[in-house]
Amino acid sequence: MNPHLNVLATRSELNRAVAEAIVLFARRTVAERSAFHIALAGGSTPREVYACLAQEPYCNDMPWDKIHVYFGDERAVPPHHAQSNFGMAYAALLAKVPIPPDQVHRMRGEDKDPTNAAAEYEQVLKSCAPIANGWPSLDLVLLGVGTDGHIASLFPDTPAVHERASAVTAVQVSKLDTWRITITFPVLDNAKRVFVIAAGAEKATIVKNALDVPTEAQYPVQQLRSTGPVEWFVDNAAAAELTESTIATRM
Ligand code: 6PG
Repeated sequence: MNPHLNVLATRSELNRAVAEAIVLFARRTVAERSAFHIALAGGSTPREVYACLAQEPYCNDMPWDKIHVYFGDERAVPPHHAQSNFGMAYAALLAKVPIPPDQVHRMRGEDKDPTNAAAEYEQVLKSCAPIANGWPSLDLVLLGVGTDGHIASLFPDTPAVHERASAVTAVQVSKLDTWRITITFPVLDNAKRVFVIAAGAEKATIVKNALDVPTEAQYPVQQLRSTGPVEWFVDNAAAAELTESTIATRM
């Protein structure tokens, strides 16, 4: 489905817009199905969004007791490591809100065998998240996007981008000289909604390349085919290279 674009003037307006959209969708989903299953993004961009979600008014409006948190990907590090996506989300959000600890489903980045950690997390997803079309069915997946167009740890030219048999896989990212654990496209495309968050001038080119030119998918972020619209949230700096027509047609 065609991506929908939200351009916010500043980073703080971006953070608030994403937090508000998460709260609204979570409240509506819990009203309908008594639970909300959300996968958090890693990296640096979402940290400020999580900090915003941990504050008034968003924090009090979230039905935390009905929320299950998952992770889109994780680095091959322990949870307290500075590079840990769980560690980042825990410090910015999860330690500050009354979500039941057994509803936070962490990828075990500390496992010396990332393939084993990926297989374990596949079982977590399949036992904790609803299943639809034979795959875990998350309500919302939050994603950042790399300047190379990667999402989660689905990096260009890696086998993970083509993984269609497993919901979670381990991937050796040679350009980063590291292993990652990541959910795969069957799970991303089975999500009810996907939010892609991009901020800052360094993301302007990938945002343009991903949204402006309707070419066949060159970048992993362009391969998203979720059931609902892919919602992009970008600030003015990240939208700087978009043409007026793209902004008009995608908003
Ligand atoms: C990760 C993320 C990754 C991230 C992008 C953008 O583990 O790094 O899951 O997909 O979202 O690399 O990262 P920034 O937000 O730091 O630019």
